[in-house]
Formats: sequence, C-alpha cells, structure tokens
Amino acid sequence: MNAVPIPDALRETIQKYQQEHLLENWGQLDDDSRQQLLRSLQEIDFPNVASLIDLAINKSAADNLSSIAERISPLQQVVRLPQTESDKQTLQQAKQQGQAILDAGKVGAILVAGGQGSRLGFPHPKGMYPIGPVTDRSLFQIFFEQLVSLSNRHNVSIPYFIMTSDATHEETEQFLQEHNWFGYPPEDVFLFRQGKLPAVDDENGKILLTNQSEIAMSPDGHGGLLQALKKAGLIEQMQQRGIEYLFYHQVDNPSVRLCDPVMLGFHVQHESEMSTKVVTKRIPQEKVGIVAELDGVQQIIEYSDLDEELAKQKDEAGRLVYWAGNIAVHIFNRTLLEKLTQAGQSLPIHIAHKKVDYLNEKQESASPEEPNAYKFEQFIFDAIPQAKNPLVIEVDRAEEFNPVKNATGEDSPETSRTALIEQAKSWLQQAGCETHPNAAIEISPLVALSAEDILKMNLQIKQGDNEILLIPELNED
Ligand code: UTP
Repeated sequence: MNAVPIPDALRETIQKYQQEHLLENWGQLDDDSRQQLLRSLQEIDFPNVASLIDLAINKSAADNLSSIAERISPLQQVVRLPQTESDKQTLQQAKQQGQAILDAGKVGAILVAGGQGSRLGFPHPKGMYPIGPVTDRSLFQIFFEQLVSLSNRHNVSIPYFIMTSDATHEETEQFLQEHNWFGYPPEDVFLFRQGKLPAVDDENGKILLTNQSEIAMSPDGHGGLLQALKKAGLIEQMQQRGIEYLFYHQVDNPSVRLCDPVMLGFHVQHESEMSTKVVTKRIPQEKVGIVAELDGVQQIIEYSDLDEELAKQKDEAGRLVYWAGNIAVHIFNRTLLEKLTQAGQSLPIHIAHKKVDYLNEKQESASPEEPNAYKFEQFIFDAIPQAKNPLVIEVDRAEEFNPVKNATGEDSPETSRTALIEQAKSWLQQAGCETHPNAAIEISPLVALSAEDILKMNLQIKQGDNEILLIPELNED
C-alpha cells in the first residue's frame, strides 16, 4: 500500500531536472518520513535551482578576482567622521532631522537573525548569546531595550521585523515570549521565516540528502529578507503603519545604534534610497566587505573577492584606498523594498563551497573532510546598486561596531565584552566620572543610549568601585 503518494507533476519535475535520486529510497520510508520528504520536495523551486546549479558548476573564482581588479575604483559619495566645527554642526542638524522623523512615527527596524552562527558555535540562536559584561544580558535584550527607550522618548511605536530561519525560529520565539519581549509591545514585533535553498554535490550538481528523508537545505542568506518580507505580507504592514524608513541590522553587533537619528537625517538630506554605515578598516586584511565602486556604481565587495594588492593599496597620504569596511547597518526606504520585491526582480546569487553532511553511495549519512557541496545565498547589500543616491556614512568603530562572530580570538565574545566595557567607561568619563581601570561596567539601553544621556544624569560614582551597574530593574511581568 502506498499511503503517501508522490504527486505526478512533482515526479515529472524531478525527472525533468535529473534529480531522481531524491526518490530512490521512497519505497523504504515510513509514512512520517515520506511526509517529511514530500514537504521538502514541494518547497524546492526546481527550475530556479537548476539555473543555480548551472551557475555553480561553470563559475570560475579566478576570473572573478581579475575582473574586480579591472573594474574597481574608490568610493565617491561618503559622509566622513566629523573633523571640523562645521562638520559637527552638520551632524547635529542631521540628528535633529532624524529625531523629527522618529517623532513622526515613520521608522521601523529590521533584524536579520536567521543565520546558523556556525563560527561562534553557540548551540542556540545567536541573539540569545549572553554578552552583557556584568549581567549576561543577551544580544536580543540589548536590541529590545534600545527600542523600548526610543519608542518611549519619541512616543511612537517602532515596529520590529525579525527574520528567523528554520534553524532559529522556534527557539527565538520561545525565548522572547519567556522574557515577555523585554517589555516591548508584542503587537509591534513581527517574527517571520526566511526561505531556504538546497545544497548540491560539487561534482555532479545533484541535490544532497542528509539522510533518507531529509534534503540538505540551508537559509538563503540575509538577502532572502526581501522575498521573506513580501511573502509574510510585511511590506504592506509597513505601509499601513505609515512606515517610510527601515533601519536594518544584524544580530551579532551589541554596539549597534538602533534607528540612529544621525543616520536617518543624513539619509533623508541626501535623498538616498539606501544608506550604509562603514568603519575604517583596522588592517588591509580585515575580514569585512568594503564599499567601493565597480564600473562607477557603488557596491560592496566581499573581502574574499578583493585581492591582497588592492586591499593594501594606499593613497599619497598613506591611507588605505579601499578603507570603507561595511558594518551591515543600513537604512532602506520602504518604497525601495517595494521596488526590489516586484515580479522579475531578484538579487544576485553567491555560491559558497562548503562541507555539507550527505547520504553516501552506501545510503549512510557521512561528514566530508573537504568541501563537497555548493550552497547558495543572497546578500542584502547587493541591493545598493539598485538604489538611488546610495549613501555611505563613516562611524566610530569603538562606538558602533563590535561584532560577535568567532568563538575565540578576533570578533569573539571576549573582544566584544571588552569593547562594551571600554565604551561604558568612556561614556562615564565624558560625564566626569572616573572609573577603576579593572571595573566591569554595563549600561542598560533603558538608562542611556549615548554618552550625552549619561551627561544629563548627574551621576555619583565612588572612586574604586570595581563593578558598576547602571541597570534599572526591568519588570518582565
Ligand atoms: P553571518 O554572515 O555572520 O552568518 O550573518 P551566520 O550564519 O550568522 O554565521 P556563520 O557564518 O555561520 O558563523 C550575518 C547576519 O545575517 C544573518 C545572521 O543571523 C546575522 O545577523 N543571516 C545570515 C540571516 O539572517 N540569514 C542567513 O541566511 C544568513
């Protein structure tokens, strides 16, 4: 008896695209496993995957590098860190303009939190990582507390659109519910899942199975945001709520300044459809993408696509020519999101050569020692060339970029906590409070979002305190 049949049309499609091996074990599967496999098969857009396979098998990385070297030129349109009094005044004006936009309730926030976080090796969604140097407050808590502060100050609701994936959705939702959304109104939080794409064998382009009933699928990259927003009806939701600007950030940077009024102000002043924050690269080899121009069009080039010579190139003043490291903080006009999600629009596909567990010829699950598969992803920054007046804004690394990427070494929890403490100390110092050199300090965003906020507080801190905590009791009930 065949209780769970394969629809004829699906079987024909699978044959047409030469992926019949996916059904090879169908006869041995129980009903639950068949259901599972069937659901996954129905989620695959076979014609699309066929074109990705074609791209992967015929791609040549070397060609890519040489063509970038011929086409690249330095960034033109950029707001650098303020140096002069006049720069500082311009920044203040931008801030006021941004605050007015926040007051008008025109701003929403987007968090992409669907990544697998494999480098960090934390067995939960990365947003749950306890990063607070004193209280272990999670990355999610830091972001939500910023939004609580901002929405109170501006007396508006700021919808928060959080993209998850199959790998992170359930746990994220449960965690946020357990913490009562960190005091943020749940009706202003929208969790939605990104799409996924199958991994394929790097030799023959066959879609990989991880076991007899499971296809090797992974999230389709942060660029999957566009289609995921559309599919969940959230672009309409933004429109109904009168949201015109979307502040975009990643889950791994506890120093991000959510809905930064300065950035909003510059974005609007320059009539930009998409803005990007950058920091000056620490060293030429730093593993961040850079913003530059290719064929005269602003875009982001991944560090792996920038050859060493270009990365090290300096101008007459001895500064890096390709200095502008992308910190993955953007503002989008809602209308740009609408444009980018119209039929026929899509971001380019990036192909990664990775190790993926697979079902071998003996029908056993195996872990490869070397990369064996191509994975496909879209990157949100590829929207830049399609935006009018794309703007780049340089910010201070110590204040705004402090990512948690790796388990140890650079960009790890250790470096991130140290940076958070240094930042807190600097804010206190600017308010005239000297702190003990070894003090662990944590400032809740419910208390202060910047050094200016601390200045207004008239703080009394005893010299020699070795643990300073500026955190009001948060009522989670
Ligand atoms: P990363 O490039 O750091 O990838 O993501 P990752 O998957 O989190 O971590 P590794 O590479 O496995 O260690 C940058 C941001 O984009 C989100 C991540 O959650 C993070 O906020 N992202 C990434 C998605 O939302 N979906 C994806 O498919 C990939």
